[in-house]
Amino acid sequence: MAEKKLILNDPDSGKSAELPVRTGTTGPDAADISSLYREHGLFTYDPGFVSTASCRSDITFIDGDQGLLMYRGYSIEELAQHSTFLEVAYLSLYGELPKKTQLEEFTDSIRYHTMIHEALKSFFRGFHYDAHPMAMMTGVVGSLSAFYHDSLDITDARAQEIFAHRMIAKMPTIAACAYKHSIGQPFIYPRNDLAYCENFLHMLFAVPCEEYEVDPVAAQALDMLFILHADHEQNASTSTVRLAGSSGTNPYAAMAAGIACLWGPAHGGANEAVLNMLEEVGDVSQIPKYIEKAKDKNDPFRLMGFGHRVYKNYDPRATVIRGMCHKLLKRMGKENDPLFELALELEQRALNDDYFKEKKLYPNVDFYSGIIYKALGLQTNMFTVMFAIARTVGWVAHWQEMTNDPEQRIGRPRQIYTGPAQRKYVPLNKRG
Ligand code: CMC
Repeated sequence: MAEKKLILNDPDSGKSAELPVRTGTTGPDAADISSLYREHGLFTYDPGFVSTASCRSDITFIDGDQGLLMYRGYSIEELAQHSTFLEVAYLSLYGELPKKTQLEEFTDSIRYHTMIHEALKSFFRGFHYDAHPMAMMTGVVGSLSAFYHDSLDITDARAQEIFAHRMIAKMPTIAACAYKHSIGQPFIYPRNDLAYCENFLHMLFAVPCEEYEVDPVAAQALDMLFILHADHEQNASTSTVRLAGSSGTNPYAAMAAGIACLWGPAHGGANEAVLNMLEEVGDVSQIPKYIEKAKDKNDPFRLMGFGHRVYKNYDPRATVIRGMCHKLLKRMGKENDPLFELALELEQRALNDDYFKEKKLYPNVDFYSGIIYKALGLQTNMFTVMFAIARTVGWVAHWQEMTNDPEQRIGRPRQIYTGPAQRKYVPLNKRG
């Protein structure tokens, strides 16, 4: 088959450009514009990368129109139903589902790395008790780069692997420390006899003076949420990790950049914002008022947990989470949870509203995740931290893919300059 090309013609100058078209396994083709400036002196303009593929990737695929999400070719629904978070982590990092022994070895390695350096704990004590846990996460994960710098050769496959395992293993420990610091309780050491999510719940909720038994349904719910949040191709925080990492910086520092990006309410911070919004709405009778606010161009209010850059259909993760929400709340005897009932009603009203229909705004992953986190006993400002633990898998997988990609170069976008044209410096005493 002849290679596809995109021909651009400029009728004014009579010049034309022939752009090779790249094709992936599935999804839209991409015109390769990498030679456009060199050969034609032209930049492309695409704020927010709405039409721009920044890299090739084998990890995750989304079809936003169909509402399809796959990790390494496996649908998110199947993974959520049959897999575990650590198996998904293995799949993301190594490209294939693990065999039994491979999963055991991987799980052992993650267990082996769960402890953090004792000195790292003193970092938390530098934060005020009411510091936002995402602020602590950004700072403490960034500081890992100080602990693991000299020995790190980022081009070495084994060093990359240890980095990936360390990050996945230590994030729950660091997150639990952030939580314990914020409520003034002692840090709890990881327990290697527990599974990944059980251990995390233990570090969050146990205290040294009594036994704490992890609820297996809570651990299962958390594991599923982590699967759903593990990766989402070139989202803002993953792109941030790639951009930061593209300079060859210490990868732990690149992770901190990803955490900082995730914190924003347009991205991972939405789960916290949804809960705050539902509490503000307060009652079903207030829904019409808030829907009108969301539609009002002069009002900055948006329906949090609604809309997505890529999904113009139901976010498949939201469907799975809504089902999980029902199951968990029932198991916990909270099936009449007023916030959940309010969320279900708000969803229905928005889905039947012309504004949301026309703009193809559907509930996204964060619309229901906060309700689950709340049912698990987490305070609202920890919700985005949970997202960060799960997304660490995607960040490390993408960092590794980028670092090993022979086409990778430092990320350096261009701009359309709109400031003053060149002018002469005016000395201070001559300025009128
Ligand atoms: N409520 C009301 N109007 C909305 C909403 C919303 N939640 N989302 C988008 N719109 C409108 C927006 O005003 C715009 O209208 P117009 O075309 O008249 O200017 C149109 O829909 C397109 O929106 P956009 O902001 O240009 O779309 P985007 O792709 O740049 O932004 C988004 C996507 C997720 C940031 C946005 O939908 C949003 O702010 N949603 C609420 C925050 C949220 O739930 N974020 C979580 C995303 S999923 C988790 C994750 O991946 O991190």
